[in-house]
Amino acid sequence: MANSLLSRFLLAATATTLACLAVVPPAAGAPGDRADEARPGARPHPLVIGHRGASGYRPEHTLASYELAARMGADYIEPDLVATADGVLVARHENEISSTTDVAERPEFADRETTKTIDGYEVTGWFTEDFTLAELKTLRAKERLPQLRPDNTRFDGRYEVPTFQEVIDLTQRLSRELGRDIGIYPETKHPSYFASLGLPLEPPLVRTLTRNGLNHKNAKVFVQSFEVSNLKALDKALRVPLVQLVWKDGQPYDFTDRGDDRTYADMVTPGGLAEIATYADGVGPEKTMVIGWDDDDSLDAPSDLVPDAHDAGLVVHPYTFRAENAFLPSDHRSSNHPAEHGDVTGELRAYYDVGVDGVFTDHPDLGVAARDD
Ligand code: G3P
Ligand code: CA
Repeated sequence: MANSLLSRFLLAATATTLACLAVVPPAAGAPGDRADEARPGARPHPLVIGHRGASGYRPEHTLASYELAARMGADYIEPDLVATADGVLVARHENEISSTTDVAERPEFADRETTKTIDGYEVTGWFTEDFTLAELKTLRAKERLPQLRPDNTRFDGRYEVPTFQEVIDLTQRLSRELGRDIGIYPETKHPSYFASLGLPLEPPLVRTLTRNGLNHKNAKVFVQSFEVSNLKALDKALRVPLVQLVWKDGQPYDFTDRGDDRTYADMVTPGGLAEIATYADGVGPEKTMVIGWDDDDSLDAPSDLVPDAHDAGLVVHPYTFRAENAFLPSDHRSSNHPAEHGDVTGELRAYYDVGVDGVFTDHPDLGVAARDD
């Protein structure tokens, strides 16, 4: 697409997003207006967030994965959200779906394979935005990491790709059954990209939360994004707390898109955190930004991120805690075998000791055990 045409498309999509968001009442702003879960130090225990459900035990982003996370004691379950061709929000980690569904084995969709540029990277595969919801529903989920999680492959082919509404329905059913509120922690994936297609994620996100009675400050919901401008827009449309995700390298793609040279590293300085606090309630850092790894990959001393973020009034929810040795610092590995489980509860306790307010984990049972046992 020519640059000028692409710019017009982006502007049109942005205008659509803002128009749809404008009908919703403004968010509660001051920290004192926030629910306890979004205020540092207001809760006795850190939150356990089931990352992509209980994705250490079931194929990620399936209702079975979310349900298991809730039954294991997770306080929140985490759907990543992308859009279908007909504008429905579905739970997938990325819009390219060949790593987590059987789409590549479906002859009827062979001609949908294509190459696109997503956030500056060329990606070849099959994309949610090229499928209607009805078409997507014919696919079945599969384990993303079969080498590391071979047990989970026995569930390949069993589960559908869930819609965001189905995830909410599940949390409401499980909340009634388990006698406690199961929270949801949706993430907007590639928001600038989807806006550029005319499929912005934010209007259906706001509509769905509002329709389900979840757009108020005591709703057990956090909304997260690696980009900034969509969180700022959502701050005007949602009353639930927002979390700015940050990565150890690079910058938000919307900054890249508009030539803003600020990096994620800039965003976690005291000044950067104060800026985040103008539109968000928390920060979600990659875990080594909180406790780095030494030269031998063992846990190092904590950074200042947690106290600095708390000083700015932000809760801190680092990601991602996984039991397999492949993801653990060397002093918590059980062997050199990447798939064997090491001491993730010890790793989690180190983070709880630093004062994090929550953790994203693929193994929510272990997140709960490290906190409560
Ligand atoms: O949302 C927290 C964490 O999930 C961010 O990483 O890539 O797993 O969505 P990702
Ligand atoms: Ca996520």
